[in-house]
Amino acid sequence: MTSGVFFCLFFVFFFFFLTCDLLHISFTEGAATVEKTVVVDQGGLGNFKTIQEAINSIPDQNTQWIEINVKSGVYREKVSIPASKPYILLQGNGMGSTVIDWNGHSDNSSPPSNGSIAAFPLASTFDSATFTVLAENFVARDITFKNSYNINNDAAVAQAVAALVGGDKSAFYRCGFQGYQDTLCDFLGRHYFSSCWIEGAVDFIFGFAQSIYVSSSLWSTIQGPQPGWLTAHAKVNDTSEGGSNMTFAESNCTGLGANRSQRVKWEKALDPKQLEYFVSNTFIDKEGWLAQQP
Ligand SMILES: *[C@@H]1O[C@H](CO)[C@@H](O)[C@H](O)[C@H]1NC(C)=O
Ligand SMILES: *[C@@H]1O[C@H](CO)[C@@H](O)[C@H](O)[C@H]1NC(C)=O
Ligand SMILES: *[C@@H]1O[C@H](CO)[C@@H](O)[C@H](O)[C@H]1NC(C)=O
Ligand SMILES: *[C@@H]1O[C@H](CO)[C@@H](O)[C@H](O)[C@H]1NC(C)=O
Ligand SMILES: *[C@@H]1O[C@H](CO)[C@@H](O)[C@H](O)[C@H]1NC(C)=O
Repeated sequence: MTSGVFFCLFFVFFFFFLTCDLLHISFTEGAATVEKTVVVDQGGLGNFKTIQEAINSIPDQNTQWIEINVKSGVYREKVSIPASKPYILLQGNGMGSTVIDWNGHSDNSSPPSNGSIAAFPLASTFDSATFTVLAENFVARDITFKNSYNINNDAAVAQAVAALVGGDKSAFYRCGFQGYQDTLCDFLGRHYFSSCWIEGAVDFIFGFAQSIYVSSSLWSTIQGPQPGWLTAHAKVNDTSEGGSNMTFAESNCTGLGANRSQRVKWEKALDPKQLEYFVSNTFIDKEGWLAQQP
């Protein structure tokens, strides 16, 4: 572990940090039809006052896209979409306008040290998540997921997840993820993040998922002089499930800060073919599931 101060993570994650002119791979959302819309409004002008009530109203084994339209406001609730409720589109009114905020945190109980993914959900880190989605085919747009446990207060730092994404085929457009330690648990499945904002201080993106982040910002909020940690690499062994590695590459950047002469030595220079392999949507989407979502 790089950190002696914090209890860092036991996750390996599969994540490529992309910069600059890779925007050409961005994806246009909106192909599938939404069959039904329910409105959540704190002021009582919608169908429900809380997001969880709206989720609970969706039948198990749902097969048609249902939009949960969440009006502006800070929703102080812990929200969970179980695996039995696929095809939900969670639509907010803007990253800065619709916010789901809770302040759960881990009790720092020991995680399993044997690398067994099946054992991880037992760990309290996962239970700390403000928002959890375990269903397949989930889309979120224009909404912020926040865990405020270690934001603007003096509580001892603990793992406090803002969002846990554990279902296959999930896409996030213009979403915010705010936390301090362990903000975004990109847990399992294939995920797509477009124009998102992810902030934290310690290991703030982690998990076993296979994901692409396009045009997204990763914002380290740690106060100096210590460094911030995007993640903690903890591959159990070469063959373990989720074992993968991280590549940091930079391509065709321009403007202030684009001068690479003093970059760290381990930054990769990928040729266009290698780059295409990592950033192509086929990396997560060979069968075209993204195009079949709303
Ligand atoms: C790993 O540890 C967890 C918790 O201690 C246990 O439940 C699980 O069976 C273990 N898995 C293996 C493969 O040993
Ligand atoms: C790698 O770790 C997994 C558990 O995650 C274990 O089943 C496997 O035997 C390990 N392989 C080696 C070569 O140590
Ligand atoms: C890590 O990624 C590089 C490509 O960047 C690849 O050549 C290498 O085989 C990978 N290593 C492992 C252990 O997956
Ligand atoms: C890049 O930075 C180096 C070292 O600061 C400097 O010598 C070089 O002129 C810069 N290159 C460009 C194109 O600005
Ligand atoms: C970098 O930009 C040049 C000119 O726009 C382009 O020809 C080249 O393919 C780009 N390289 C990559 C790796 O995208």
